[in-house]
Amino acid sequence: MGEGYFIALSEHFAKPHQKEKMLLLAKVEKFAAEAILPLLSKYELVPRDSRLLKEIGKKGLTKVGHFSWDEFINDIYINFPKYLVEFAELERMAPESDIEMLKILTDHEVAAIEFAKLEREGNTNSIDPLVQYMEN
Ligand SMILES: [Fe+2]
Repeated sequence: MGEGYFIALSEHFAKPHQKEKMLLLAKVEKFAAEAILPLLSKYELVPRDSRLLKEIGKKGLTKVGHFSWDEFINDIYINFPKYLVEFAELERMAPESDIEMLKILTDHEVAAIEFAKLEREGNTNSIDPLVQYMEN
C-alpha cells in the first residue's frame, strides 16, 4: 500500500526532485514490506494481492492531493510518528526471535520521518536516511 501511495505521489508532484523523492520512499516501502515476508509465512499470513494493495495506496492520494510540497512534507513529519507507536507495540508483543525483522519495519518509518525533518529544514541531503536505510 505504501509503495502504491508514494508511486501515486511521484506522479502527482511536478518537480523532478519531488518525483525522485517520492519514488525513493516507494522503494523504502517495498524494501520494508519484503523484509518481513518471512514473518508473514511464519504466522501463515497471506498478504493481499499486490495490485490491489497498490490500488488502495493510490487512493491515499485523495487525502493529501491538495497539499503543497511543503505541506505534504510537514504532514509526514507530524503524522508518521503515530505509526511508530504501532510498530513499537508490535515489537512489545513479539517473541525475541521476531524482533530483528520487526525492527526493519520500524526503521523504515524512522527513516521516512528523518527524511521529512531534513526536507523541512531545506537540507539538500534529505534523502540520505532513506538511502542508508536500504543499505543497512
Ligand atoms: Fe510505510
